[in-house]
Amino acid sequence: MALTKENAKELLCSLEGYHQTLKELHWSTDNHPKHLLTDEIDHGVLEFEDALAEVVMGKLGEKFGKGDLKTMLPEAEELKGILDELENDVNKFIDSLGGEHGYGGIYSVTDDFLSQIYKWKYLETLS
Ligand SMILES: [Fe+2]
Repeated sequence: MALTKENAKELLCSLEGYHQTLKELHWSTDNHPKHLLTDEIDHGVLEFEDALAEVVMGKLGEKFGKGDLKTMLPEAEELKGILDELENDVNKFIDSLGGEHGYGGIYSVTDDFLSQIYKWKYLETLS
């Protein structure tokens, strides 16, 4: 178990799918708190996607490029299920690192993102 371009690419492709689904929810909801929250989550997803891609490229010394990102849509359709699935995908990526040392920067960006997911799960209960 180690960091590979493939493992990171799988999460990046899923993040593209969350971005698309969150935008669709943002536009289709008739609930104003949910309209705002879906946009906040979408911004967080895109920031995390960029941060993750760049720390992984720096760590591996390999670049992502044209044709690497293929949108993978989540199965869940409502916000609570989407956040559960996102949490699961991030934890799956962390597990793929196998608890090895030397991934300090990778763990910190993913861990910061997980804490945001937990905050959004709480905020979702208010929307
Ligand atoms: Fe908007």
